[in-house]
Amino acid sequence: MKFDVMVLPGDGIGPEVVEQGVKLLNAISKKSGHTFNFEQDIIGGAAIDSYGVALKAETAEKSSKADAILFGAVGGPKWDDPTAKVRPEDGLLAIRKALGVYANIRPVKSYSFLKDSIPLKSELVDDIDLIMIRELTGGLYFGKPKKQWTNSRGRVAVDTLKYTEKEITRILRVGFELARGRNKKLTSVDKANVLESSRLWRQIAIELSAEYPDVKLEHQLVDSCTMQLIQNPRQFDVMVMENTFGDILSDEGSVLAGSLGMLPSASLSGIPSADGSIKAKGLYEPIHGTAPDIAGQGKANPIATILSVALLLRYSLGLPEEAKEIEAAVDTVLAQGYRTADIGKEEEQIVTTEELANKIIELATNY
Ligand code: IPM
Ligand code: MG
Repeated sequence: MKFDVMVLPGDGIGPEVVEQGVKLLNAISKKSGHTFNFEQDIIGGAAIDSYGVALKAETAEKSSKADAILFGAVGGPKWDDPTAKVRPEDGLLAIRKALGVYANIRPVKSYSFLKDSIPLKSELVDDIDLIMIRELTGGLYFGKPKKQWTNSRGRVAVDTLKYTEKEITRILRVGFELARGRNKKLTSVDKANVLESSRLWRQIAIELSAEYPDVKLEHQLVDSCTMQLIQNPRQFDVMVMENTFGDILSDEGSVLAGSLGMLPSASLSGIPSADGSIKAKGLYEPIHGTAPDIAGQGKANPIATILSVALLLRYSLGLPEEAKEIEAAVDTVLAQGYRTADIGKEEEQIVTTEELANKIIELATNY
C-alpha cells in the first residue's frame, strides 16, 4: 500500500526526534513493501521566523490531504514574549483545528526501571497502564469570544468554555469504545458542580452509557481527580475529559511514567479499530516539548516519537502488526539497558538519540 505522511518537525529537539521517526518508517517500508511518501514542512517558531506565521495555509492544506502527520514539537524562549502577536503554539492549535483531530489519546505507562525517577512510592505506580483521552478541538481553548480589551476601569480578558452536544458525544464515544476494548471502565472527568458545560457533558455521558452496558462509567470532579491520580493512580484505565482539563491532567499523568521522553500521543479525527480495519486521519506527536536546553546535542530521547510512529501505523495506516513490533522492540532495547540521558542512571548505559533509535529500528525491522 501507498501512504502519504506529512512530516512537521517544528523547533528545538523536534527535528532530531522526528528524523528518527522517519528513519523508522523507511525501514518499515523496506521490510513490509509499503510505500511512504513523505512531504516535510516547517511549523511553529521556524515558520514564524521564515514566514511571520506559525502555520502557513498551504501547510495545513497539504497536511489535511495526508494519511497521517508526524509532528515534533513547537516553541522556545526566542518566541516567548507574552505580548507577541504570533506564537509557535498557535501553529499546533491551528493544525489540530484544521485537521479536525478532536480526540487526543495520551497513553501513560510506567516502566519499572524508571521507578527511582518517580517522586511517588513505588507501590503506588507499579504497572500503571492508563489512557487519557482529551477533547482537542473545542472547549476553553477554542470557544469564542476569546479576546482582551480595555474599558474605563482597565484591561479585561475573556475565554469561553463552550461545547455542543455533537462535540461532547463524539469524544465520549471514543472513551466508551476504547474502554470496551480494554478493562471496561471509563472515568469521565468534569466540573459538574460548577460548570454548565460539565453538566451537559455528564448528562450526555449517562445517556450514552445506555449503549455501552458492558462499560462501567464513573464520574470524577476534576479537582479531586488530580488528587486521585497521584494517590491511587491504578484505579484508572480510560479517562475522558475537556480540552483544558486534559492538558493539565495529562502533564500530571506523565509524572507517573517517570519521563516525558517516553510518552507518545495520537490526535484522531475519528474512531479507529484496534485491528486496523477502520482507520482515522491523525496527527502523532511525542508529548514532550522542544527542550531547547538540550537541542542539537544528540541527548533527546527518541522513544516518545518512535512510539508515536507505532500509534500512527496502528490508527491511521491500519498496520497494527508493525505497531506491535515497534512497541516490543522498545521494551527489549530498554530491557537490554540502553538509555538516553533523561532515563539513564549509569554512564555506560547512556547512548545518543540516534544510537537508541537505531537499536530499536534494527530490532523492529532488521534494517
Ligand atoms: C500540549 C501542549 C499544547 C497544548 C501547547 C503547546 C499549545 O501543552 O499538547 O499539551 O496546550 O495543548
Ligand atoms: Mg500541555
